Amino acid sequence: MAKKKSMPDSALMEGYMPQHIAIIMDGNGRWAQQRLLPRTLGHRAGMSALKKVVQTCDELRVPFLTVFAFSTENWKRPETEVNYLMNLLVEFLHRELDELHRNNVQIHVLGDYEATPPKCQDEIRRALALTRHNTGLIFNIALNYGSRREIVDAAKSISKRVLSGEIQLDSIDEHLFAQCLYTAEMPDPDLLIRTAGEKRISNFLLWQVAYAEIVVSDVLWPDFTPEELYRAIKEFQGRDRRFGGLKK
Ligand code: IPE
Ligand code: IPE
Ligand code: MG
Repeated sequence: MAKKKSMPDSALMEGYMPQHIAIIMDGNGRWAQQRLLPRTLGHRAGMSALKKVVQTCDELRVPFLTVFAFSTENWKRPETEVNYLMNLLVEFLHRELDELHRNNVQIHVLGDYEATPPKCQDEIRRALALTRHNTGLIFNIALNYGSRREIVDAAKSISKRVLSGEIQLDSIDEHLFAQCLYTAEMPDPDLLIRTAGEKRISNFLLWQVAYAEIVVSDVLWPDFTPEELYRAIKEFQGRDRRFGGLKK
C-alpha cells in the first residue's frame, strides 16, 4: 500500500510561511551510488521527489518555488549524464504539464534554455505558453543557470541603456539592478534549502539570497519528502531574522 502523506501540523500552517523557497536539489548521484545503481537512476528518483515537493508547495500556498535543475557548470559532466538530465526534463514536463496546469501553476525557466537540445526547448516553450496566465504557484526551474552569468547579463543590459541615453548613470540602484535579473518582479527567496549536506551556494541566486535563511538537510534529494520540507519550514519559522538590525 502506498505510504500516506502526513499532514503539516497546525502550528506550521499558522506560522509565517516562506514566500519564496529556493532549493538546491543535490545528492542524486550519491543516492544511486549507495544502491550500486548508475547515477542516472538517482536523477530519475530525484524527479519523483521534485514532483511531490511542487505539489506540497502548492498545497501550502507558498507563492514562489525555485529549483536548481542544471547549472552552467554541470556541462562539465559526462555527455551521457547531461543528455539523460535533459531528456528527464523533457519527460517531466511532458508527463506533469497537464496536472501542473490544472493546478494553476505558472512555470518559468531561469537560465539560457536556448542552449539546451531542441526537444527540450520545445517542451519548455509549450510549458511556458500553456501556463503563462495561471495565477497559482510560480514554479521556477533554473536550467543552464549560473548566477554570475545572470549578474553579468544584467550589467550588460544596464550598460546598453546608459550608453543609449535611455537612463542616467545615477539612476542605477539596487531596485533597477534586481529588475534586470531573471527573477525580476519576484520576491527574493526567504528560505534556501540545500540537500545532501553540502554547505555551499554553487553559483545559485547569489544576489537574491542576500538575506535568505539557509537550511542544509543531510537527506539526499531523492529521499527528500514533504515531511522534510515541513521540517525545513519549521526551522525557518524558528529563526530570528534581523536583516542587520536588532532582535525584535
Ligand atoms: C544533483 O545531484 C543533480 C544535479 C546537479 C543535476 P548530483 O548529480 O549533483 O548528485 P551528487 O552530488 O553527485 O550526489
Ligand atoms: C548544484 O549542484 C547544481 C544543481 C543542483 C543543479 P552540484 O552538485 O552541481 O554542485 P557542486 O558541484 O557540489 O558545487
Ligand atoms: Mg552534486
